Amino acid sequence: MACICRHLYSRPSPRFRHWCSRVPPPSDRPEAVEQLDMTWGFNHVGHFPDDHLERLRAVSVGDIAVVNLARNKATGEVVAVRTRANRDLVEAGGDGSDWMPRLQREIRALEAAKDIDGVVDLKRVYHMGQVSHMEFELLPGGNMLERLATRHVDTLGRSALTEEQARAWLRPVIDAYAKLLAKGIWHGDEHLNNVVFDADDNPKLIDFELAQFFAARVCQGGGLLNAGPQPRGVLYYKSPEAATPCALFDPDKSTVFSLGQMLRVLLEFGHDPATRDLHQPPPKPSPFYRTDLSADVRDLIESMTAADPRMRPSIAQVLTHHWFAPSGQWTLPSAQTPSHPHPDTTSTRAAPSQQHVPAARRTPSTPLPPPPTHVPMRASTAVIKTAV
Ligand SMILES: Nc1ncnc2c1ncn2[C@@H]1O[C@H](COP(=O)(O)OP(=O)(O)O)[C@@H](O)[C@H]1O
Ligand SMILES: [Mg+2]
Repeated sequence: MACICRHLYSRPSPRFRHWCSRVPPPSDRPEAVEQLDMTWGFNHVGHFPDDHLERLRAVSVGDIAVVNLARNKATGEVVAVRTRANRDLVEAGGDGSDWMPRLQREIRALEAAKDIDGVVDLKRVYHMGQVSHMEFELLPGGNMLERLATRHVDTLGRSALTEEQARAWLRPVIDAYAKLLAKGIWHGDEHLNNVVFDADDNPKLIDFELAQFFAARVCQGGGLLNAGPQPRGVLYYKSPEAATPCALFDPDKSTVFSLGQMLRVLLEFGHDPATRDLHQPPPKPSPFYRTDLSADVRDLIESMTAADPRMRPSIAQVLTHHWFAPSGQWTLPSAQTPSHPHPDTTSTRAAPSQQHVPAARRTPSTPLPPPPTHVPMRASTAVIKTAV
């Protein structure tokens, strides 16, 4: 039987299970692909890996991906299954190009982040002819914006979250982003819908579809990334530099901007008219509408979302900022050389930044993190290729 590894992997690796001799090549006829494209928006996910998973119900239907609740037949565990088309659908704004390099990058990022508690656990991946299914641990607590809008608003639908609650929600999220950056991974789609609570109310990062790798450095001002010709993401949270086509930018400072906007939305949701449509870029300037916010949090948000990345604090400085860590107790993640099951040689990587990044306003100076240490990764994600 023909080997389809060249269809599934640009660089087959023994790290991912290889069942190439047993799997027939994808057999979808062109008309079947057409049919999937037409029905994607109506929650038709094509072939489901029924041998392995029992589909229970839909959780979310997005432009690119559908998330379903399912039961793993082998383990009995209820999991979340994210399904996405194997092509960059033209109907969803894509260019119809091949999917595998991007999916591989997403898997690599999730694999490399397995030792970070604040990142969702990817368990298995099922590659079908038309779609790929990623099996994740189930996070039953809902996403952060959902939780804010349903449980923490006043009678007019405006955020009633206190600064203390916002701090408790966001601090572990910032910690997880800082650990990712220390490994040389930029999440690339940082917003409140991409943070979901687990059963113990711990927030976890999901959706690594736009993740990129860069050369992490121990010192501030590590490697730069290229925004690419068509930057994607939710505009309200996206830093100006990462939203500029083909711009080179510092992933650390770009993440800080997005986190500043996340904090702003947590506190200003419904008060600030700009929070009604988060797919629009933020207005300049962005005034504060809530009158009960402390000067500290306003200054912090303003410095995190400064238009000039050099005026923003680094993520390490945010973590040690006195608003986020009143006691000053916070362990900074150390920069690590990322280790990936498939080192990506195709992504655009720029030379490390040589520019001097001045300290941000009103933030204490940050001690250098300890030297890099190797953190072993957990067991690799099983990739299951299923004939359709
Ligand atoms: N592991 C998970 N457990 C529970 N719900 C999830 C999980 N992953 C995603 N979701 C839900 O699905 C929504 C969309 O997921 P996401 O992966 O961001 O897809 P997309 O943004 O491409 O539509 C999330 O905001 C969350 O509500
Ligand atoms: Mg998402």
